[in-house]
Amino acid sequence: MKKIAVFASGNGSNFQVIAEQFPVEFVFSDHRDAYVLERADKLGVKSYAFELREFDSKAAYEQAIVDLLEEHQIDLVCLAGYMKIVGPTLLAAYEGRIINIHPAYLPEFPGAHGIEDAWQAGVSESGVTIHWVDSGVDTGKIIQQVRVPRLADDTIESFETRIHEAEYKLYPEVLNGLGVERKVDSK
Ligand code: GRF
Repeated sequence: MKKIAVFASGNGSNFQVIAEQFPVEFVFSDHRDAYVLERADKLGVKSYAFELREFDSKAAYEQAIVDLLEEHQIDLVCLAGYMKIVGPTLLAAYEGRIINIHPAYLPEFPGAHGIEDAWQAGVSESGVTIHWVDSGVDTGKIIQQVRVPRLADDTIESFETRIHEAEYKLYPEVLNGLGVERKVDSK
């Protein structure tokens, strides 16, 4: 059985969708006050949180993450709103075992503002992408992606809501496709 960990920096709605359907070994946040940690508590999922500024270097911070992953024998790291670039220490240990969800149809609109950037550009459709993580920003090999249209009467809020709904469908599909087993009580 493949063991997964989810990394999130803030809200954690993707984490919640994943954890409702799949056993999550733990959630990691790089912010001690992230809402995802409350979600984890409510769902009974173990969580860890520490911040980059608490370490002497990014290498030391990432080594602490690698230690956690190894201790829990994690097979797949699922980034879901983890707002840090994955650095060489984590990549050296886990490249090929880290995936990320991006709220645009890569290679269109990479970076931290995929939804806003697509909206501002006036596209007729955007999308959601799940990809392997490499040393670039949203450049890794694409696993699966889905288009989301921008409707004539969309506001940025309604557009964003539909992008998130697409995310909540895509992440479980991809995990399924990668052979992660669902929770026994999951529908
Ligand atoms: C999602 O849109 C994800 O694609 C992006 O960050 C957002 C995280 O949302 N990388 P949440 O924390 O899962 O609610």
